[in-house]
Amino acid sequence: MIQPVIDNHLDPTWIERALQADVSEGLLMSPKELPPKWFYDDRGSELFEQITHLPDYYPTRREREILEREVDVIAERSGADTVVELGSGTSEKTRIVLDALAATGRLERYVPFDNSEATLMHAADALAKAYEGLSVHGVVGDFEYHLNHIPVGGCRMYLMLGGTIGNFLPADRKKFLAALANTMVAGDTLLMGFDLLKDRRRLIAAYDDPEGITAAFNRNVLAVINHRLDADFVLEQFEHEAHFDTGDECIEMWLCSTRDQQVTIGKLGMEVGFGAGERMRTEVSAKFRPERIGPELFAVGLVTEQLWTDAQGDFALSLARRVER
Ligand code: SAH
Ligand code: AVI
Repeated sequence: MIQPVIDNHLDPTWIERALQADVSEGLLMSPKELPPKWFYDDRGSELFEQITHLPDYYPTRREREILEREVDVIAERSGADTVVELGSGTSEKTRIVLDALAATGRLERYVPFDNSEATLMHAADALAKAYEGLSVHGVVGDFEYHLNHIPVGGCRMYLMLGGTIGNFLPADRKKFLAALANTMVAGDTLLMGFDLLKDRRRLIAAYDDPEGITAAFNRNVLAVINHRLDADFVLEQFEHEAHFDTGDECIEMWLCSTRDQQVTIGKLGMEVGFGAGERMRTEVSAKFRPERIGPELFAVGLVTEQLWTDAQGDFALSLARRVER
């Protein structure tokens, strides 16, 4: 086994500053808002993993179905020897891709990139053990800031799975895709997963399970702020809500204050009031129309070679290539 190399760009000071900036800005907005990247401490990552097994949370299963069906074509078309995965999490579905590339005899390097340090370290270790001769170079970072720290070299296939691209607000998504395309060189490919627009009842069911796992995941952002910024959010005093916004075609997760309350955020020296019934948005999850995916990628210099969906048309995977600038 080749020992994984891990670069960590998220030291505690960086994390605290970035969280302070997001919280102080987001809590002054109306309605209040927090970015979803802060869900994923150890507990949040564990809760997300549980979400992927919920009966109504279809994206993980549908994406896996497409990967299993198309992976040989994907491996062949990509020509890749290096896989760079953004928001890699547990890297479970990645194994399907790595297996296919290993079978071509080309696989050399895997670069998982995630802001959840423990999850990434665990995945990096497991993959280095599972794939003899694979060099694993993990990056603990925030993909809105640290894309330029992705190790260079090799013929690269970038992965962003799970529909994580949908968690950006539209303007931020555009910025992120442009930055990502800029880190790619001509010939590199991007395999990206998109959750598709569908019946709103199924969408809401996927984000509001009766077991309360998604609710716990949603509230976890408050626990992260309590821990990192010395705040005193009482998690039980916020209710989880999932709505579908028909105009923007996205699921939105909110936390709704069950009473009038004051919250102190020690490290910001800030007191924030929540009225009874006041809602704070914690996540958007865009649901895409297949015909809009190609043009959106093309706008940043990525040409879609193929777009696959699962048998039910719930989820899409696109393989796009960076063209010469
Ligand atoms: N790709 C996996 C995990 C998706 S969950 C799957 O398909 O199941 C989203 C992942 O992105 C989490 O592991 C989370 O820690 C990571 N993430 C979210 N925001 C991030 C950011 N700004 N920078 C880096 N990683 C981020
Ligand atoms: C990671 N991301 C694609 C998930 C989603 O479906 O938007 C996060 C999630 N939020 C609630 N459930 C799962």
